[in-house]
Amino acid sequence: MDWGKKNRISQIIKPETGRTVMLAVDHGYFLGPTSKLEVPEEAITPLLPYADALMLTRGVLRNCVSPETSVPIVLRVSGGSSIIGADLSNEGITTSMEDAVRLNVSAVALSIFVGSDYEQQTLMNLAILVDMAEEYGIPVLAVTAVGKELGKRDERFLSLSCRIAAEQGASFVKTYYCDDFEKVVGSCPVPVVIAGGPKLETELDSFKLAHSAIQKGARGVDFGRNIWQNPNPIGMIKAIRAIVHENASPEDAQRIYDKNK
Ligand code: 5RP
Repeated sequence: MDWGKKNRISQIIKPETGRTVMLAVDHGYFLGPTSKLEVPEEAITPLLPYADALMLTRGVLRNCVSPETSVPIVLRVSGGSSIIGADLSNEGITTSMEDAVRLNVSAVALSIFVGSDYEQQTLMNLAILVDMAEEYGIPVLAVTAVGKELGKRDERFLSLSCRIAAEQGASFVKTYYCDDFEKVVGSCPVPVVIAGGPKLETELDSFKLAHSAIQKGARGVDFGRNIWQNPNPIGMIKAIRAIVHENASPEDAQRIYDKNK
């Protein structure tokens, strides 16, 4: 692997543990002003010291994040649909590689919608993005199983999506947790990180989710709502960090959360 690409991946997936805690704040790209993310800098700034990487669009990056930050950026470069439009999966590539380079990003991220009407289009978006990104040694994060496909959160569907993403050249893949998650990881030749999905009922539920995923081979999390929609977001991210980087149990994580209230 090219030195630059390896170096960028090492900025995100920390070599000390081989894992990462990414903070996802890209939701507005199709949801608009999501609850608790209405003013992005208010959600992002206090959490930045605890994030191994920040996932967002160029608009929020340029307007809401200080260029002096040393946190690696994973730039969302797919979009083109909204939550009120006809079909969320009708996405294209929204950002040039030149702009990604200007923004000094460590990776670019794009969604694929396997099993949707736009499956082929979004898989071709991925293939084209990989070609564009390889020119500059920039890793590509493929985001699987969003939109209507969220219903199909089983091992067979997620394994299919993750494997296809890796086959198309993604450097790492983001997916959802499911039963038999070790099979998803085991059949995907690149690192897998998990999204949190909609906010879970209790903190402990989020900790159990992160813990099971890590124990079954996930290389980290890319959590959004379960962190910044929580009334104690700093406690949440600190607790999640302990699970990811120190193999803390869900109960240990709960203690860290309670201590940081
Ligand atoms: C949306 C995304 C989000 O970044 C992803 O879903 C992570 O956020 P959350 O933990 O809130 O699900 O990629 O397409």
